[in-house]
Amino acid sequence: MFFREFPVAVRKQTGSEEVHPGAVFLNIESRVDTVRRLQRFRDGSFCRMEVVPRFFAFRRIPLHFFMEVFSMADISQVKYAHRFDQVTGSAIREIFKVIAQPGMISFAGGNPSLDALPDRQVCELAQYVLNRDGKALLQYGATEGYRPFLESLKEYIEKQLGVSIPAVLPVTGSTQAMDLLCKALIDPGDAVLVEDPSFLGNLQCLKLYQANLVPVASDEYGMIMSDLEDKIIRYHPKMLYTIPTFQNPTGKSLPEDRRKKIADLANEYGMVVAEDDPYRDLRYDGVPSHSIKYYDRNGWVMFLGSFSKIISPGLRVGFIAGDAGIIRKCTIGKQSTDVHTANLNQAIVDQYLRRNLLPEHIHNICIGYKMKMEKMLGALDMFPEGVLHTSPEGGLFIWAELPEKTDTVKLLSEAVERKVAYVPGTYFCVNGGHMNTLRLNFSNSTLEQIESGMDILNKLIRTKI
Ligand SMILES: Cc1ncc(COP(=O)(O)O)c(C=O)c1O
Repeated sequence: MFFREFPVAVRKQTGSEEVHPGAVFLNIESRVDTVRRLQRFRDGSFCRMEVVPRFFAFRRIPLHFFMEVFSMADISQVKYAHRFDQVTGSAIREIFKVIAQPGMISFAGGNPSLDALPDRQVCELAQYVLNRDGKALLQYGATEGYRPFLESLKEYIEKQLGVSIPAVLPVTGSTQAMDLLCKALIDPGDAVLVEDPSFLGNLQCLKLYQANLVPVASDEYGMIMSDLEDKIIRYHPKMLYTIPTFQNPTGKSLPEDRRKKIADLANEYGMVVAEDDPYRDLRYDGVPSHSIKYYDRNGWVMFLGSFSKIISPGLRVGFIAGDAGIIRKCTIGKQSTDVHTANLNQAIVDQYLRRNLLPEHIHNICIGYKMKMEKMLGALDMFPEGVLHTSPEGGLFIWAELPEKTDTVKLLSEAVERKVAYVPGTYFCVNGGHMNTLRLNFSNSTLEQIESGMDILNKLIRTKI
């Protein structure tokens, strides 16, 4: 009874022999025990066909064999999660593909200079920790972090920030700190305040968690506090994401009074602050400011740090520090992300801290970066009237604004033809626009490349205004 009804029922459900995807039954004229072949449907997709076992025929259900057809739908029909609705690939990654040509002078990336990467030192430290503790380092570790590193890291952060830190979690680059913080805090539609422009990677992260991004207006020093407070009152944001020191992409640094104000507002209104500060140590001029965390009274500020710009981005070691409850949630989130940050890499950075190698290394790399930044700033001063730019005291980036009608996206292809690349500023802006802006990185070029690349850009821009 089952065998009689089954094919009929399926025929009724599918209606047609070409229903796709799904199972349909086809009549086969000849007696076949096993047939496997591919059929191409009208829409171009392929289906695998299998003969349903012979017992159908023994039971004399029609005169034919039945074939089951499994659709092998085109992979382009895959349905992605809605969290990707607002997210396209990183424009910067796309630019990298275009500019990966020999002879290109790239002001587009944000990589440390190759001279600044301490490969010999890391090699020595890796050997040391593997000789001492190899088996444990090569074994699975705790999500909470490699124990000796937890000690040295906490001490390092507390010394840096001048405050005691309730909890810290080593993470796989501070990129992961942002991801875990969002995992812990952000539901779809939650308002998150951001600087505009801001770091593309973390804007993407916020979009993936379907945050409602609300840009805060800036002046030449960074976020304007009255606008910040207005937006807090209006949008009840769950979080503020800020890069207060040598911001990516503008190079701006938030003055001391605004840092305190942000901490006060966070405490008053109950808003988490993600203080992302990976450039803090790359200071070539001026006096350091306290972190926002320094002014935090009730634990609303989470400090995100990284060793990417001061040791090596390839090691992927960063951290998130602050409230123990939030760190606990991030730790749980990390368990299903990567279990833990590589033990070996944590141990290497631990040695950096314990041997107090960082101050000298940072001092050395800052000498080179300062020369490069000054070279680029000097070159920008030779640009035509109407070209404005920031004058950072550190970090890796300078932000430039060309006369209103200039389109830096269009200009980029002409620049690339002349073997110079940058990132158009619009890609860092929450709602696009700002077509006349661009970000310039100086760390990853030689002084000679900065000189000739900026000269090419200068001449190109002069043809447009
Ligand atoms: C502002 C900012 N935050 C975070 C990161 C990511 O750093 P990490 O290598 O530690 O993931 C970057 C990298 O360029 C950055 O510019």
